[in-house]
Amino acid sequence: MSSVSYDGQVYEVLDGESVLQCLHRNSVAIPSSCGNGICQSCLMRATEGMPPESSQKNLKKSLKESGYFLACICKPEGDLEVTLAGDEVFHRTAVRIVDKYQMNGQILRLRLECLEAFEHKAGQFINLHRPDGLTRSYSIATSLPDNMLELHVEYLPNGKMSAWIHDELQVGDLLEIDGPHGDCYYSPDDQEQNLLLIGTGSGLAPLVGILHDALAQGHRGHIHLFHGVIDVSRLYMVDELCQLADAHKNVFYTRCISGDVVPEDCYAGFANAAALEQYTSLTGWRLFLCGHPDMVKDSRKKAFLAGASLQEIFSDPFEFSH
Ligand code: FES
Repeated sequence: MSSVSYDGQVYEVLDGESVLQCLHRNSVAIPSSCGNGICQSCLMRATEGMPPESSQKNLKKSLKESGYFLACICKPEGDLEVTLAGDEVFHRTAVRIVDKYQMNGQILRLRLECLEAFEHKAGQFINLHRPDGLTRSYSIATSLPDNMLELHVEYLPNGKMSAWIHDELQVGDLLEIDGPHGDCYYSPDDQEQNLLLIGTGSGLAPLVGILHDALAQGHRGHIHLFHGVIDVSRLYMVDELCQLADAHKNVFYTRCISGDVVPEDCYAGFANAAALEQYTSLTGWRLFLCGHPDMVKDSRKKAFLAGASLQEIFSDPFEFSH
């Protein structure tokens, strides 16, 4: 059985357990969010022993060589002495909450002012750190002036961070973020290419940002946004998106309702079903998939089968954390 030494204490790692699970089981507060090797919020460094190579996926070569690893996917093969990655790797930026606005019963729009320069692109994500160490990842919605970020925070049942943001966080409060991370954003490589944007719930946030960026950079190809929710009360930004579609002849917007009651102007069914029913061949398209992990996985597979190149499919990679 392997052990993990952290902060002067030694913990035994149970069979099949990750370093993160072991430390959390022993009530050691280690930041984490996705639990899936994506957000990098659980980054640690082995000061003794070698972390398995599989726990270093997507890390820069220099970090791998210095013993950094992702604790949530690290199943140690020997004893490790570990420490938290500090500011030397991910610089944290202080942010001030400047606006909270309820967009519907579940989605809160949060605007943050970065207290130092923070270059980012809409569609990338940041890790938001609560003062007690709780960390969650949120996509950056809509392009605002460089020092401002907009996030859409969905209220999740039993969601520790989302409930706190909705109920307790106040305008004027200070928090810290790191990032931006991820490659789910618009780049103007081929402005004639057709873009397919499929999102569920608050997965609309990065897609709206990508749509605005594409238009601001003069994208000429077809841009079709499909937004799926379970019932009409969960739609949001409808007027703004209808206006965008009216104002640009290459922009299309389809609302999809997967529940029983479906207004006439909405598609009855899932957003990815609507998209793939309308576009049976996706050869040459660029896709952005954001929202529920099952939808993202299913859409990626179906889009590939419809001819899309995997290099042209970008997704918001979150798993839901509470
Ligand atoms: S990468 Fe470990 S919690 Fe996200």
